[in-house]
Amino acid sequence: MRTLALLTSGGDSPGMNAAIRAAAKTCAARGARLLGVRDGYEGLIDGRMVEVVPGPCDLLGESALDVLGSQGGTVLGSARSARFREPAGRARAADVLRSAGIEGLVVIGGNGSLTGAHALFREHAVRVVGIPASIDNDIGCTAMAIGTDTALNTIVQACDHVDDTARAHRRAFVVEVMGRACGYLAMASAVAVGADAVLFREQKRDEEEIVQAVAAVIQQGFARGKRRVLIIKAEGVEIPCTRLVRRVEERLPELEVRAVVLGHIVRGGHPSSLDRLVSARLAFSAVASLLEGAADEMVGWNPPLPGGLPTPDGSVKRFPLERVLQETAALEEGSSPVMARRLQLLQQVEGVLPL
Ligand code: F6P
Repeated sequence: MRTLALLTSGGDSPGMNAAIRAAAKTCAARGARLLGVRDGYEGLIDGRMVEVVPGPCDLLGESALDVLGSQGGTVLGSARSARFREPAGRARAADVLRSAGIEGLVVIGGNGSLTGAHALFREHAVRVVGIPASIDNDIGCTAMAIGTDTALNTIVQACDHVDDTARAHRRAFVVEVMGRACGYLAMASAVAVGADAVLFREQKRDEEEIVQAVAAVIQQGFARGKRRVLIIKAEGVEIPCTRLVRRVEERLPELEVRAVVLGHIVRGGHPSSLDRLVSARLAFSAVASLLEGAADEMVGWNPPLPGGLPTPDGSVKRFPLERVLQETAALEEGSSPVMARRLQLLQQVEGVLPL
């Protein structure tokens, strides 16, 4: 029987479990065996694996899979593995896969995880197909990474709550959302909630400029008679939220400004229907591609750039990991045309001020 393995790696994201379920069902339908690796590359190095869908009593048996898709996090566990960053760790992982007779590996994760997958292929010819998963939506060659939609919904709900209390007291709020290297969550949520302005790392502003710009937006907003001013800040903007708010209040002592840092709340929770759907379809294509002999690739959802190999799913294309990693780097440093389109969207669609 043909055997594949699957792991989830890096920051967990809602929809990973839905992808695991879909991969298990696709394998079962094609007569292949699927092993789930515990705790990402850490578990792979140690050979910790569990059979998925072997029978009703197992942890990942059929009944468990029925409820899995609606759960956040990842049932397999995840890790940011320092050992796998070393050549010796990757060699050990390749040995484990070989001795278990595993012919291909599905890696569900973000930039670091896909970089590891690419290295595993280059150094040890392990056939890997990646599935983009990161609430930050910072991965190239895909319009959506698994978890981004759910994270956005969580941010929108939190901002709606903040909005109620802000309008009651005529206050300004700075809401910080996750996104270390990529401002997508901040930019997209700013449009979705009709924020007054958005701060993200790719703007490359220094602290003085940021304090000045934020104070100006707040002052002008209230001068126009608004009852709330809402500014979304990406985590990647280095000035801590509390310091930013304190410095703005020093400039505007007559106004009240508050800070809310959403942090890991944004990464958990039940996946949205869109995340479940995208996860399932990406996982189907990843498994099908691996069984057809694909290697060193990632499957992307409605890619926002040309190229890629078609799959039986019209919304999913296959890209070489090399290209994915290049495009991911361009997204992070702000030079990708995809970033330029995001900025245009901010200014044209909602008039949200990128500070
Ligand atoms: O997964 C991406 C992310 O959520 C970033 O937005 C954030 O900076 C980082 O992970 C936090 O990582 P950790 O959970 O390891 O602190």
